[in-house]
Amino acid sequence: MTIPPAFLEELRARVPLSDVIGQRIALQRAGREYKARCPFHAEKTPSFYVNDQKAFFNCFGCGAHGDAVGFLMRHDGLGFPEAVEQLAGLAGMEMPKSEPEEAQKYDRLKKLADALEAACKFFEAQLRAPAGRDALAYLTRRGLDDRTIAEFRLGYAPAASDALRAALAAQGHDAAVLEEVGLIRKPDDGRSPYGFFRNRVIFPVADKRGRIIAFGGRILEGDGPKYVNSPEHALFHKGSILYGLARARTAIAKGDRPVVVEGYMDVIAMQAAGVGGAVAPLGTALTEAQLAELWKTQDPKHQRDYPPILCFDGDDAGRRAAVRAVDRILPVLGPSRSVAVAFLPQGEDPDSLVRSGGAAAVRQVLDEALPLIDAIWQSATTGRALATPEQRAGLWAELETQIRTIADHQVQTLYRVELRQRFDALFLQNRSSGKKWEGRKWDGKKSFAQPGPRPAAVRPSAVLEARILLAIIINHPFLFDELSETFAELPVPVAWEPLRHALFDILSAQPLDAQALAVQLRASGHGSVLDDVLGPATTDRARFVKVETPEEQVRAGWRDVWNRSHSRSLDRELAVARSDPNRLDDQALERISKLGERRYYGVESDEQPDAALARIDHEAVVARAIADALKAPAKERRIDDGLDNEGDL
Ligand code: UTP
Ligand code: MN
Repeated sequence: MTIPPAFLEELRARVPLSDVIGQRIALQRAGREYKARCPFHAEKTPSFYVNDQKAFFNCFGCGAHGDAVGFLMRHDGLGFPEAVEQLAGLAGMEMPKSEPEEAQKYDRLKKLADALEAACKFFEAQLRAPAGRDALAYLTRRGLDDRTIAEFRLGYAPAASDALRAALAAQGHDAAVLEEVGLIRKPDDGRSPYGFFRNRVIFPVADKRGRIIAFGGRILEGDGPKYVNSPEHALFHKGSILYGLARARTAIAKGDRPVVVEGYMDVIAMQAAGVGGAVAPLGTALTEAQLAELWKTQDPKHQRDYPPILCFDGDDAGRRAAVRAVDRILPVLGPSRSVAVAFLPQGEDPDSLVRSGGAAAVRQVLDEALPLIDAIWQSATTGRALATPEQRAGLWAELETQIRTIADHQVQTLYRVELRQRFDALFLQNRSSGKKWEGRKWDGKKSFAQPGPRPAAVRPSAVLEARILLAIIINHPFLFDELSETFAELPVPVAWEPLRHALFDILSAQPLDAQALAVQLRASGHGSVLDDVLGPATTDRARFVKVETPEEQVRAGWRDVWNRSHSRSLDRELAVARSDPNRLDDQALERISKLGERRYYGVESDEQPDAALARIDHEAVVARAIADALKAPAKERRIDDGLDNEGDL
């Protein structure tokens, strides 16, 4: 009878070996093991050890060793099937059916596995053969040394379309088996079969035990898809496999932190940089099953403190990918099931980062990984206008929608509590100058409990814009009507929100001149903010805001500020568009067209913005902005008056 290895493994896992042996001889605890006087030879002091973790016993006296089945066979004098049956009884498991199909299935899988292993060896040998010279040179050029190539079992699939089949046929592997695992293809029209991987560098993919189950093949140069990958088959289910897991598992067991990167080369680069826990999904987003595999490899205690780090590119696409990943992970979070999120510097992948900045650069990125809750908070608040109650309500509704997807009740509740605290703290700070912590108990500590990083700050260049615009309106209140829309949209530091509100209230009620306005603002407690906003930090940068500047110059000055700041937003949007125009959704198009209007027309012509907008056909602007951007390489804009302090909102 063939008993599948998986069944035996399950048995060993279910019945602690010390139970089986302890029922027959007296065991004494010895640290993490048990010891006893050996039942298989005569001795006075114990040298027989039982280890439940390894599911193995060993006698240092007589050398007897084995697992539960071995113990029962020898101790109880049973045959192999009887010993297995006894254990299955203890474990409450049904014996596997000894039907012929079962055995056949097992034999067939074994054939697939053997063929895959043989193919891996063939590819490895080809990389060292004359045919593989270019491929080897390619890998060397990418910084891989012989040891790395050997460890990852990298190989080369020669261009000759029958090479693999011929070589494996000589070793007795059936063409049908090779076809089943996708290594060869048989054309329908009866022509001879051809190898699926031709003239490609081969990255073998192993399951978590290290058994080869698939391959990825990278093109060396020229046309064609960059990678082709084995199709799924009985041994290969892409969605539950992580590249590099067999290696990483050992490192993770020793305490390394799992790190999920994007590609084959990234895993290899990370490992070379000393990140032993690096793995990658196979060209798709991380699945729940893959995440579950990672969690399983970690000790739960360790998992709580050092959850797997998901590494994303630092660009907009990477941020969007992170958001999608987070959305998928929320439902499966648990008390010891979480992740952290790290972003690579703009334009780098782990491979390029290791080459440019070495292991230290990688360490830094990983050290800065955000706990999941911080990543959620950051992505929800970054760059977001939160001036009005409606905008704030929108933020909370979005957070609440995410929170509700967390299936674990306890975790869901705690996310809600913590995010709510951060949400409240964001707006409470705002009032601290006037009514302090109104309606709340304040425990005398410096600030309201606010774990994690502080709420997203307004980016420095935006602070300057806010200064200038506030100053313009305070000193030239007759421009209020014209600028009020911008004024409402502009992100301002929370400390200035009350001033903005007061300006709105006062000026929408009645027109006032600068002097009368200032009197009212001071009377209602905004004096110190007013002094700040009208102080040298503003006037040194933008002299035109002063009361005595003629109206037209003030307008021109403001348009200039607006133009620069929105050129930057436009450039960011367009960079996304350039990387993949298909990704532009309607909202993004609308944003681009808005920004484009102001950049190309509203500002540079001498017309009033309203008149300019009316003149411009909406579609034409979109087309022109995108066309320009796709033509021109993204260029770094340098503006030397302090408006270029990049940083996210
Ligand atoms: P990348 O394009 O980032 O590749 O795709 P890479 O691994 O960094 O390789 P190099 O540095 O360009 O050589 C990430 C992963 O997506 C899958 C592969 O698993 C790849 O490692 N992929 C990519 C495909 O399956 N097919 C493709 O055509 C491209
Ligand atoms: Mn790469």
